[in-house]
Amino acid sequence: MFQKDVLRSKRILITGGGTGLGKAAAQRFLELGAELYICGRRADVLQATVRELTELTGGKIHSYPCDVRDGTAVEAMIAAIWADGPLDALMNNAAGNFLARTEDLSIGAFQSVIGIVLMGTLHTTMSCGRRWLAAQHSAVVLNITTTYTTTGSAYVVPSAVAKAGVQALTRSLAVEWGNRGIRMNAIAPGPIPTEGAFSRLLPRPELEQSAKNRIPLGRFGTTEEFSNLAAFLISDGSGYINGEVVTMDGGEWLQGAGEFTALGRELNELEWESMKPKKTPPKSANKDGS
Ligand code: COA
Repeated sequence: MFQKDVLRSKRILITGGGTGLGKAAAQRFLELGAELYICGRRADVLQATVRELTELTGGKIHSYPCDVRDGTAVEAMIAAIWADGPLDALMNNAAGNFLARTEDLSIGAFQSVIGIVLMGTLHTTMSCGRRWLAAQHSAVVLNITTTYTTTGSAYVVPSAVAKAGVQALTRSLAVEWGNRGIRMNAIAPGPIPTEGAFSRLLPRPELEQSAKNRIPLGRFGTTEEFSNLAAFLISDGSGYINGEVVTMDGGEWLQGAGEFTALGRELNELEWESMKPKKTPPKSANKDGS
């Protein structure tokens, strides 16, 4: 799909890059020639990913244990990375989410998810952004949001409010920093099977089929599809895309939003046929031809 070295000489940080979608994107970016930095909370998980991806791709990848909720720790990590040279791209992927009735949630639960998703994205973006602007260094930020940023969603309210904030940040800074060479975009993925997300968001395996029924394409997305889109948005090939949130969900949210969509399941063949216009027989011509 891409020229083999389309990301060559790009230095990219992926938060939450040790597992799931972040790890998949890290692998793809390495295959395309980038130098990678990944961060996450667990050093052992990061180190295992570094070993695995080095073996798989032969690429250059470094890891930093860092909780993105901690602004001081993020600033220290970014300073350490910059000591080797500036980053060219930042992918804010680290997330926290779980299903819960909102009335059951403590403020600590809100703080945990908002801290990772919204404050984490702010911490990395500010630390990198200030350096890029000061050095007049062109760069790309790719945020990972979700399809329920504009609609909201029951049972994942901390995530919904935090991701909506990330979307507003994406569009705001696309304008404020765009004239100084910094592009800001986002991907809003629908369901893509990864251990982290599916163990938290699919309480019973039997619910998998009903989840697929909500998607016009009838299947979940793949990590390869996600990684390819991320690579495109990071690459110079997408150089005129700025402030965009690219939905990648097989049409799921549109199916849920369409007022008449459910009729496809509710109405039977006879009912569809009965709604077609009745064919009126052509009027027979008068004997005189008029
Ligand atoms: N339901 C309700 N509350 C929950 C919860 C759940 N499933 N999981 C955690 N919480 C609450 C805790 O009770 C705690 O509240 P308190 O401060 O009032 O005691 C608060 O959230 C923090 O949880 P804790 O487990 O102490 O800390 P954490 O910050 O390390 O946990 C999470 C982070 C909550 C995001 C955890 O689920 C996690 O680490 N997830 C991994 C990444 C992830 O979720 N990825 C998203 C894939 S879509």
